[in-house]
Amino acid sequence: MSGEPLLEIDNLRTSFATDRGTVDAVDGISFEIYPGEVFGVVGESGSGKSVTALSLLQLLDSNSTIEADAVRFKGEDLLTKSDAEMQDVRGGEISMIFQDPSTSLNPVMTIGEQIAEVYRQHASSTESGRFWPEMKRKYITGTNKKSESWQRAIELLDMVGIPDPEVRATEYPHQLSGGMRQRVVIAQALAGDPALIIADEPTTALDVSIEAQILNELVDLKDEYDVSIMLITHDLGVVRETCDRVAVMYAGELMEQATDDDLFAEPHHPYTQGLLDSIPRITDDREWLDVIEGAVPDLIDKPQGCPFRDRCNRAFEMCDKPLVEYDVRSEANSDPSGHTACCHLHNDHVETNADGKAIHVSEGAHAEVESKLIEVKGDKIARTDGGDSQ
Ligand SMILES: Nc1ncnc2c1ncn2[C@@H]1O[C@H](COP(=O)(O)OP(=O)(O)OP(=O)(O)O)[C@@H](O)[C@H]1O
Ligand SMILES: [Mg+2]
Repeated sequence: MSGEPLLEIDNLRTSFATDRGTVDAVDGISFEIYPGEVFGVVGESGSGKSVTALSLLQLLDSNSTIEADAVRFKGEDLLTKSDAEMQDVRGGEISMIFQDPSTSLNPVMTIGEQIAEVYRQHASSTESGRFWPEMKRKYITGTNKKSESWQRAIELLDMVGIPDPEVRATEYPHQLSGGMRQRVVIAQALAGDPALIIADEPTTALDVSIEAQILNELVDLKDEYDVSIMLITHDLGVVRETCDRVAVMYAGELMEQATDDDLFAEPHHPYTQGLLDSIPRITDDREWLDVIEGAVPDLIDKPQGCPFRDRCNRAFEMCDKPLVEYDVRSEANSDPSGHTACCHLHNDHVETNADGKAIHVSEGAHAEVESKLIEVKGDKIARTDGGDSQ
């Protein structure tokens, strides 16, 4: 991890106004994605993964409120962009692949046409992507088969492993299998020449064998096209296979962040440890998998403190204090930067036993939490000042 981040999210909070009250779906998360990396976001159903992605692209319903100290992409603040500017960003600089390919494809347009259209609108095409020429192509003439955009569509279909791309390009989505359709969606996502692809459970609707192929395809394309990928999944096996760094999400918060290797070798958060223990292993002699008992808490009027504490077998007196991020050091990796866990067991003033349970909390523990809270706030004040002086 080096250089400037491509995407920088600082204290993102997204809530929904509902009849039952305010749902705090994303509750103050911060992370960065660097050029050329696959960044995984993993967590149980309802943990806020999709809402995070949709917040970045401002694709949420009107009952939502999105707030953040910063959502910067290539150094530009996305939250201050107008609708028209965001439309350029979506499908252009940032494209999104959803779980179900049929929702992303237009059933009455050929697949070649759909990819060519994205290319004209977002990539540096010399063909006009303006309204009337587009309408004419869509409904009257179709894209000229010799044009740059059509040729690019065929090239991309070939790239994502569609056989006979010239013929397939003239077919409609229903003529393709689910796996093929998801490949088309990937081709479409690449057509705008994006710097970041957000893939939200891109293979969940597919067979396991096809899933592996598609994920490999995505990772290969990442190198070829020099894009970063934010891969959202609830499957730790997928994370292990594909990601460079991972954030573990729970009840709208990020519990742990680390490189893929560090996370699997030395998970530090009890929730991450629980998740890893619940994966079946080939060498298993356990009769039952270790499941984490209980359920994700209600996100309406969420109490402060760790949202996992009611399910955690190592909860202790500090777990109702505000969550702060602690740097944790992995034995496998002497560089402490980048591995963080939001768990007070990692407070320097909390002593733990061999089982990782808190046995003594010394006076400095609360002061350390306070100073971390001030550190975050202070950092923000410093940044606001910096912004004002420009
Ligand atoms: N439009 C909405 N109105 C109210 N609540 C919503 C809305 N959209 C999402 N939520 C709530 O926000 C929380 C996070 O949802 P989200 O879809 O991000 O979860 P997820 O981690 O993507 O889960 P999954 O793995 O099932 O896709 C859930 O409690 C969900 O019910
Ligand atoms: Mg989701």
